[in-house]
Amino acid sequence: MPGDTMPSSIHSKLVAAFTVTLIVTVITVLTPIFYIAYAGMLAEEFALWYTIAVLVIVVGSSTLYAIYINRVAFSPLKLIDRFLAEVASAGDLSARLSISGGREVVSLANSINNILSKLEEKTKELVIKEWLGGVGQIALMGGHDLRNPLQTIRYSIYLLEDDLKKGLPIEGHLDRIDRSVRYMDKIVSDLQDLSKSMRIEPSKVKLVNVIKDTLSMVEVPENVEVIVDADPSAEVYLDAALIERALVNLVLNAIQTVSKGGKIVISARVGDGSVSFSVEDTGSGMSRNELDKIFTPFYTTKPKGLGLGLSVVKNVIENYGGKIEVESELGKGTRFTMTVPHKV
Ligand SMILES: Nc1ncnc2c1ncn2[C@@H]1O[C@H](COP(=O)(O)OP(=O)(O)O)[C@@H](O)[C@H]1O
Ligand SMILES: [Mg+2]
Repeated sequence: MPGDTMPSSIHSKLVAAFTVTLIVTVITVLTPIFYIAYAGMLAEEFALWYTIAVLVIVVGSSTLYAIYINRVAFSPLKLIDRFLAEVASAGDLSARLSISGGREVVSLANSINNILSKLEEKTKELVIKEWLGGVGQIALMGGHDLRNPLQTIRYSIYLLEDDLKKGLPIEGHLDRIDRSVRYMDKIVSDLQDLSKSMRIEPSKVKLVNVIKDTLSMVEVPENVEVIVDADPSAEVYLDAALIERALVNLVLNAIQTVSKGGKIVISARVGDGSVSFSVEDTGSGMSRNELDKIFTPFYTTKPKGLGLGLSVVKNVIENYGGKIEVESELGKGTRFTMTVPHKV
């Protein structure tokens, strides 16, 4: 800062203090020598007072010297140490160190303050990026995905008005509008599922019924064989609606990957305090690299995919206090397993 004068260094302060102490000691020691040289001898009471004075001056000046070293060098270091410990425990990056002392201490404090400012700035940037990467990205991409069906609806209404005037049938347009609205509804409810934490309301259900209800929500092509593997008598307390919401996404992905023909096995097992559902397919499988991305919202390899299915599954299962695992081999197939806690 202009006008600010840099304090002198700890080294020069200590050298100055040492010199002063040395001069005082030397003068004290030399005094009787001069006295003897001029008066020829030392008076008896002078010798006594002189000894006391030497003791007081030497002890006093070394004590002052020690206090001074402590003040210019050790106390500031202790303060810095305490300050850093507080920053570390409170995690408050806006704290700044204000300290006086030697040049080295002030320069160390300035460096610490600079590092803290940079850290504070970077942390703010990261928080904003993370927000944009999460909620912000979901909002932006959700908006983007809604645009396609909206354009389909606008175009269908335009054609519908035209055909109405000409007295032509309009069912085709109404059907397209209906499908677009359903598609938009799916996007919105997927986004809601991603952002909210769900209430879990368990009731007694048969595991096979959970699987059967899930299958009733999807269309299985003729060339796809579906095998249900669950003990028909197994009953547990589960929130069937939530489990089916997750399971249907896994089954849909499995159907899509074996669309050219193949097999899907849906199984349920009751374990100790938990129940697991798995969906296994003989489809394309995935590489290690792909597996790392599949739970990221909007990651999709399908031309008409939304890339939200697995994000919804993960959100539902984690809200449920469970976990989702995936094993896959490229060209052979994939098995997703979700495990959730239950009451027997
Ligand atoms: N059973 C599966 N077999 C192969 N790939 C899969 C399977 N399930 C998911 N994937 C991959 O994960 C991606 C993300 O899946 P998902 O989140 O359900 O979105 P979407 O189905 O809309 O693409 C899919 O596009 C696909 O590449
Ligand atoms: Mg999907």
